[in-house]
Amino acid sequence: MGVSVDQGLSLGRPASLEDPLKIAILVSGRGSNMQAIAERSLRGELPVRVVRVIADRFTAQAVARAEALGIDTRVLDYRALGPSEYHNLLAEEIERSGAEWIVLAGYMRILPEPFVRRFEWRIVNIHPSLLPAFPGLHPHRQAIEHGVKLSGCTVHLVDTGVDTGPIILQRAVPVLDDDTPESLAERILAVEHQAYPEALTLLASGRLRLVGRRVVSVGDTSARLS
Ligand code: GRF
Repeated sequence: MGVSVDQGLSLGRPASLEDPLKIAILVSGRGSNMQAIAERSLRGELPVRVVRVIADRFTAQAVARAEALGIDTRVLDYRALGPSEYHNLLAEEIERSGAEWIVLAGYMRILPEPFVRRFEWRIVNIHPSLLPAFPGLHPHRQAIEHGVKLSGCTVHLVDTGVDTGPIILQRAVPVLDDDTPESLAERILAVEHQAYPEALTLLASGRLRLVGRRVVSVGDTSARLS
């Protein structure tokens, strides 16, 4: 028996290209996931609009990438502002942008509990392992050292732990005998660029529900692209 529409908490909403789900993407580094999402959105392949990219440091390569795509991009310098001021400004900026969801893409800071509660079940992250295996730093190295034959990536809701939130979607990638952390990271990253837009498409279907800590779908999750 499937999950009924009145069970659990509704995640996302039914969006379309005319009425896209508005997202703010938080970045700290390279920005390839941000770019993969934004390019699909700009090509009209994703019922999502990137209303802000916010970086926690000026040096993030993602800033130049986002600006080149014409996205409204801001830097909030964590080191200069300090944690309290930074998180207040971050929350204000996100609310001002009109973003409905916060998408972490290579964002290297742990969001404090009050922030997570303020945007409860409206924050997603991507992590390059099959969670709950290998959370935290250096997941590729952890996977190789442990000797797993399959790793991959996980898109999950953000809760107050580190990489512990309810799982929306996972994609597996084989670990090869001669893999290094770098070679494994490269193959997983290519899969991440597909998986993150797919997960956002699910959120934009309006059919996902959080039941306990399971994210389940009710009925047809295909995006309404017209
Ligand atoms: C990705 O592997 C992501 O899963 C992890 O950090 C990396 C970010 O890469 N959280 P990019 O900045 O999106 O290129």
